Amino acid sequence: MPRERPDGAKGAQERVLKDVLELHVGAQPATETGADQFFQAEAAGDLPKGFAPSVTRALVRGGMDTTMSGMTGALRLLAQHPDQWQVVEDNPARIRFVFDEALRYEAPTHIVYRTTIDDCELSGYALKGDTKIAYLPGAANRDPRKWDDPDRFDVMRDTANVHMSFGADRHNCIGQNVARMEAEVMLRELFKRVKRLEPAGDPHYLIHNQLITIDRLPLRAMPR
Ligand code: HEM
Repeated sequence: MPRERPDGAKGAQERVLKDVLELHVGAQPATETGADQFFQAEAAGDLPKGFAPSVTRALVRGGMDTTMSGMTGALRLLAQHPDQWQVVEDNPARIRFVFDEALRYEAPTHIVYRTTIDDCELSGYALKGDTKIAYLPGAANRDPRKWDDPDRFDVMRDTANVHMSFGADRHNCIGQNVARMEAEVMLRELFKRVKRLEPAGDPHYLIHNQLITIDRLPLRAMPR
């Protein structure tokens, strides 16, 4: 059953998000997207009112720029580190580790916030309730107490579930395995078709208060 859409700007935004989600999910008919399932469940009373638009927004917003940023980061790093490209050539099983190591090396979301509920202590610091704190995943990912030679991009590391780029604890990234799958598909296809990737100019980073993200990455790809 088609769902009712709210009027006005919010409705328009939800239509755009739904279209994006359909493109993102692939060639499935509209009635079978994840978004439709949320809306149908909400209409049937299985989810609280207002849940469907908000979770759809969270998934699309949370999953777009972050994943693009992680993928462009991985491409940049492979192009700038031909020795690491060669490691993957020689050990194809390492393809699925490239993305996580790229996320460790350059965390797309470089700042994440929390707000304390009550007075508490964190790492020896007394915090009052309702205090906003930020943590910097990129700094944790290069912490020399945790990582051996942290400033080296090394696709032989097993960093998944250790680096902090998907956050931590109960609100850690719900879409991390979707992002890993998308990146792995892209990289597998790339290695199939391309024998060498080289920088063809400097990457251009967007100025953004929460994301480290490249909006222009000139690369030269040598076909096989
Ligand atoms: C490389 C790709 C991605 C990165 C770097 C990333 C990063 C993050 C980070 C840092 C958080 C906050 C964790 C925290 O507060 O501790 C987060 C949460 C979240 N992410 Fe991702 N994300 C990525 C991909 C995705 C994808 C593909 C989706 C959706 C399909 C997604 C959906 C979400 C949602 C819904 C949350 C909120 C979870 C909650 O509050 O419980 N993310 N992500």
